[in-house]
Amino acid sequence: MSLTRKILGLHTGQPTSDGAGVKLTRVFGGQSAELFDPFLMLDEFGSEHPDDYIAGFPPHPHRGFETVTYMLEGRMRHEDHMGNVGLLQGGGVQWMTAARGVIHSEMPEQEEGEMRGFQLWVNLPGKSKMGDAGYQDIQPEFVPRLTTADGVEVVVIAGRFDDGTVQQNGAVQRPDTEPLYFDLRLPAGTAVTPHVPEGHRVFMYVYEGSATIAGQPVVAGHLLRLGENGELPIDSIEGARVLLIAGKPLREPIVQYGPFVMNSREEIEQALRDFQANRLTA
Ligand code: FE2
Repeated sequence: MSLTRKILGLHTGQPTSDGAGVKLTRVFGGQSAELFDPFLMLDEFGSEHPDDYIAGFPPHPHRGFETVTYMLEGRMRHEDHMGNVGLLQGGGVQWMTAARGVIHSEMPEQEEGEMRGFQLWVNLPGKSKMGDAGYQDIQPEFVPRLTTADGVEVVVIAGRFDDGTVQQNGAVQRPDTEPLYFDLRLPAGTAVTPHVPEGHRVFMYVYEGSATIAGQPVVAGHLLRLGENGELPIDSIEGARVLLIAGKPLREPIVQYGPFVMNSREEIEQALRDFQANRLTA
């Protein structure tokens, strides 16, 4: 009989604002980065009040990692220095590999109504931090969805979902960190045990309702950090919506300065010089 994954920590999302004044919840990011390796940040945004989101994220840079935006509700327009223009809408995913550099904006394409979703930052290994930038815009109809025999609905954003009864490849597959990113909706009284490769770190964020994960009760607004080996049983008595985010740790030094994440201070100073000289993306 195999063991369940060990509980390493329970974290509470913190209210903050970013961009030009968008209100959001920072689930993790900026502190104790090695605990979350290979992920750097998870933000949740959700509001029906335009004042909370209308300012958006005017042009800003990134270097050294990937940003993943997953929309639940609303519409955001992405534009970048490569000439990509994309509309992110409810159920859609944007996977942007900043690598050497991206300058982009993310602005609401609505003046009223709900805007809701998540942005996850995935680190890149040192060998890829100065590689070419890339961009994948996956419209909602191309993001795989399934329902397990028990009635759990799964959006398979990245990696491969497999609970022993149903298997499905996600919209995105990435090397090195080999991330899994699933949005799970558990109706009341259902359970699921998704397979996560040995050696992957697992982060479970409950964003609605409550669930018991590897024996630990978790209510909405909390993130559970789990160990690298064992099974991952999840069940919910009242119903829950949960993000499962897992990846292979890179185990490299992490030096972050705002939107630049490199392996050393020298590389951060280079990023700042490149940005100031307008050659971040060159
Ligand atoms: Fe950005």
